Amino acid sequence: MSRKIIHLITANRVWRSIFRYGYPDTEENRSKVIFQTFFLHIHPVKVKTHTLKPTYTFGLGVIAFYLFAVLTITGVLLMFFYVPSVQRAYTDIQALETAVPFGMLMRNVHRWGAHLMVLFVFLHMMRVFYTGGYKYPRELNWVIGVLLWVFTLLLSFTGYLLPWDQLSFWAITVGTNIAGAAPVIGEEARTLLLGAKEVGQDALLRFYVLHVMLLPLVATVFILIHFWRIRKDGGISSPAEQNLPVP
Ligand code: HEM
Repeated sequence: MSRKIIHLITANRVWRSIFRYGYPDTEENRSKVIFQTFFLHIHPVKVKTHTLKPTYTFGLGVIAFYLFAVLTITGVLLMFFYVPSVQRAYTDIQALETAVPFGMLMRNVHRWGAHLMVLFVFLHMMRVFYTGGYKYPRELNWVIGVLLWVFTLLLSFTGYLLPWDQLSFWAITVGTNIAGAAPVIGEEARTLLLGAKEVGQDALLRFYVLHVMLLPLVATVFILIHFWRIRKDGGISSPAEQNLPVP
């Protein structure tokens, strides 16, 4: 393409409304591109060099986020083939395994993704602990992280009932009985979870709503706050900062 055509395209108003800055070949343009691009602005314009070393974070938080995204996408796909009713749930899962194109793949990616997310969130938490990332000024983000860990476990637990097979039924019976054994509020907590005295249609519906709506929504909000806090706390922790006195 001649320089004239390139100039005509890049001078076009529609083009300039999408690509607001020129090729990022100067310090200023590089900063502007990061600042102004929706998907890139999660990154800071400048980072500490040690945080680029793969062995500092092992990318564990990013892997946990990636798994959350995969679980959201496969979860939405699974919703097209699953009805949370005691008459339909078990047979819907059977149909998914045998009759729905790529159904088995969809289900297994979702299931493996869930196991892996528990593992990687745990490993990420260990990394943060061993690098002292929980210390000042990141205490609040550590607490948000602990909540994310709880949401991850609750998502796993609520998803476990949905196939409505023997394993699900008895796992949730045992799990909610454990909640029921808590002093003072135990019985109320158990009834609140199950919507009845034992595992049945009410429990299936409650676990379904928690699993596909409430918990993913709350987790998304907390993940966004988690990322925002990383930026506000000055990026990833650095070893030198850990000796800073708490003001
Ligand atoms: C859904 C689960 C979670 C996601 C998606 C997530 C994501 C991330 C990401 C992407 C980072 C940037 C550094 C990195 O990649 O390792 C990070 C940092 C951090 N996370 Fe998480 N996280 C999760 C759970 C947790 C948990 C369970 C804790 C602790 C209880 C935690 C505490 C922190 C702290 C304190 C930082 C800053 C660490 C530093 O500056 O060294 N996060 N998180």
